[in-house]
Amino acid sequence: MKLKTQFDLVRTLDRATRRRTLYGSSGDCSIKVIGDEEDRAVIVFDTSISSQVLTSKNFQNSNYFKAGLEHLASGGKSVELIDQFYENIPLFKEGDEHRQLKKEFNVILEEANYELENKERIIGDYFRKRKDRIVSPVEFADKFTRVCSALVIAKLTNFSLLRIMRALDMRCNIFCVHFHPARQLAMNTTLEYLYQDRNIPGREETDHVSHLVAQAFIAMGIDPVSGAICANLIEDNKSKFVEHTHRYRPTSFVPRECVAETEIAGVNFMVGDTVYVYLVPTESELTVDGSASGTSAHDIGFGKGVHTCIGKQLSIGIINLAERLVAELYPNGFSHKADIEPDGVFLAFSDSKSACVPA
Ligand code: HEM
Repeated sequence: MKLKTQFDLVRTLDRATRRRTLYGSSGDCSIKVIGDEEDRAVIVFDTSISSQVLTSKNFQNSNYFKAGLEHLASGGKSVELIDQFYENIPLFKEGDEHRQLKKEFNVILEEANYELENKERIIGDYFRKRKDRIVSPVEFADKFTRVCSALVIAKLTNFSLLRIMRALDMRCNIFCVHFHPARQLAMNTTLEYLYQDRNIPGREETDHVSHLVAQAFIAMGIDPVSGAICANLIEDNKSKFVEHTHRYRPTSFVPRECVAETEIAGVNFMVGDTVYVYLVPTESELTVDGSASGTSAHDIGFGKGVHTCIGKQLSIGIINLAERLVAELYPNGFSHKADIEPDGVFLAFSDSKSACVPA
């Protein structure tokens, strides 16, 4: 992509994501085309068009981290493990290879769901004991997601909980709008720590996919799950977590590449177009109570089409458990409030510096 197109694209995406709220984004048009016929990027704000792009075979995913990682590696930085992770996950695969890997992922994820159910009592007791020490929604969401993730990852990898918890301390959210070198390096360090005296199983080994699912959980699952819990707690929804998770959509958009000319909603997409589709409805698509008015945006938070989130069921399981525990342990809410701010493609949450309300 030409530098000028890239610049215009980044500026538009920045502006759009900065104005998003918990429910929607204030997009003022349904589609925006950037660049010229030779070199185009298209941003789709209308989620009914997003749905059509995501379910069409004429758009594919491609490894949008690749060029950034190559650049880091050429500067002598170690990014081998995170690079390998992106090479191996279903997100950047298509066709039969994608289908087969997704099947294998689903088998392992069922095991992960069982593990979560089996450990429900242990997780509950852990938080019952520490109830008074956790004072804010951010702290709860962060600790809760980590504990649930660590238990599932321990089952999938056979690593000790201590090692996993330490590794999780090193990680950062890597799914931002732009390639973020420091965050990618942090994720690489996390994987290096996790595997410091053991090789990641190769494709031919049976536990290869279990390790890949564990890594996907670390890199792609923890931030949106914790974000969804936080969003629910900000709104004081003590009994509607799961229902509301479909409204919050922690991830604002996903990119695709057009691989066959196609027309959607009167727009001609051309081969080679880079297309960014919004998962967050625009304000004109929302009803007064913040829910999506059309069916298109209703269930788009976990994506649509062949790349629909594979961790959806596990995430809902974790969020369900959080819902039950919050209702039991914090019936009057937390003593601190949380602030919310868009962080590139994600919504980020932090402890409020100002507002402090009595529990
Ligand atoms: C609330 C929590 C979550 C949200 C909102 C979420 C959101 C998404 C979205 C929107 C996509 C589609 C990406 C695209 O089309 O380009 C996706 C894909 C994916 N997610 Fe999640 N995710 C969540 C939790 C998880 C968890 C816990 C895992 C752990 C295993 C996970 C692993 C994946 C993987 C591997 C894919 C790629 C699937 C494919 O390409 O077929 N996600 N997720």
